Amino acid sequence: MTPSTPPRILLGITGGIAAYKSPDLVRRLRDRGAEVQVVMTGAAERFVTRQTFQAVSGRPVRTELWDEAAEAAMGHIELARWAGRVVIAPASADFIARLAAGLADDLLATICLATEAPILLAPAMNRVMWANAATRANIGTLTGRGMRLLGPDDGNQACGDTGAGRMVEPDRMAEAILAGIAGAGLLEGVRMLITAGPTREPIDPVRFISNRSSGKMGFALAAAAVESGAKVRLVAGPVGLPTPAAVERIDVESAEQMLDAVHRHIGQTDIFVAAAAVADYRPASAARDKIKKTAPEMALKLTRAPDILTQVAALANGPFTVGFAAETRDVEKNARAKLEQKQLDMIAANRVGAGSGFDSDQNALTVYWSGGEQELPKTGKRELARALVQIIARRYVTARETAGSR
Ligand code: C5P
Repeated sequence: MTPSTPPRILLGITGGIAAYKSPDLVRRLRDRGAEVQVVMTGAAERFVTRQTFQAVSGRPVRTELWDEAAEAAMGHIELARWAGRVVIAPASADFIARLAAGLADDLLATICLATEAPILLAPAMNRVMWANAATRANIGTLTGRGMRLLGPDDGNQACGDTGAGRMVEPDRMAEAILAGIAGAGLLEGVRMLITAGPTREPIDPVRFISNRSSGKMGFALAAAAVESGAKVRLVAGPVGLPTPAAVERIDVESAEQMLDAVHRHIGQTDIFVAAAAVADYRPASAARDKIKKTAPEMALKLTRAPDILTQVAALANGPFTVGFAAETRDVEKNARAKLEQKQLDMIAANRVGAGSGFDSDQNALTVYWSGGEQELPKTGKRELARALVQIIARRYVTARETAGSR
């Protein structure tokens, strides 16, 4: 698409309370130069009137598959062809299920079947509906077919609950939709390998050494990278988190197993992000049987666990490497030292404790690279992950261009 052609967004509105935010989304898309054609489902009209969308989009709103006059002007197939991108915001649980089933029982579902344009879904629903196995399966089906998700976000819900299922705020959504059009996602087609969570280092068959990492940051990064178009593999230590949509997950326990999984996939990786809190030391040997409490004291001999990130960064023709540094003091000094010693392309540092970092939903990061740094103030891990992915993507592209011009 040349810069002189305005991006054409076909915006589908389905029946959910978050539809009250969609007129604002239309305005923000138009403010950024897009043409917006709104198509509403019958259920959507129970929440917002078509006159509202007509006024903000400056175009007649389409609702009916069987409207002869409208079909004569621009039929459903023409609408499907007109769209540079189809965005469903809000995407209700019911509409997601209809899409997954491939139904064509109303205008919007028919357009989704008939279009060759990328389809983006901004789900919005109660958190239990979002977590329901049926919705999970439908989302898996749709992302498997190449549809992309925008959100949902965590937070307060119209029903009074708090959790995942809020529609992404219009301003950020407009940005994500149009960034996607300018050059597809920033990481379109880029292969990313992410480690996340703690490791467990066995002492005997029932005991282990581990740490407080929840895996939330690494999982949020995986979801954000998918949103930016990356193909993501996630090597996860033992955590109780659901796998983000369209992410290939490999579960491991120990540092050795994590290293093995990373080695198996590193050859097909463009960007490696080590977000896992890998053990630094592990028991020198794990007892074969459960250790009995007979001796009054016991000493545990520890030995160094493999440093996965250092090994990856040392590979000849290895990927762009990003490390994390969780520090309790001297954050910048320690992070910059790690960047140098481990020969990383980038490091994201945080001060752990006081409601940030490990086992928390909120975090703040400072990102360092050779000759630069950027502060990411304290916010939810999802939001933070999106911002970090943007920085990684920009540095990765710059590094690739520099390497290519040599
Ligand atoms: O040196 P330090 O453990 O503080 O470095 C932290 C970074 O190194 C994180 O990105 C972490 O994922 C990675 N790391 C690793 N293997 C280890 C220890 C740390 O990949 N054994």
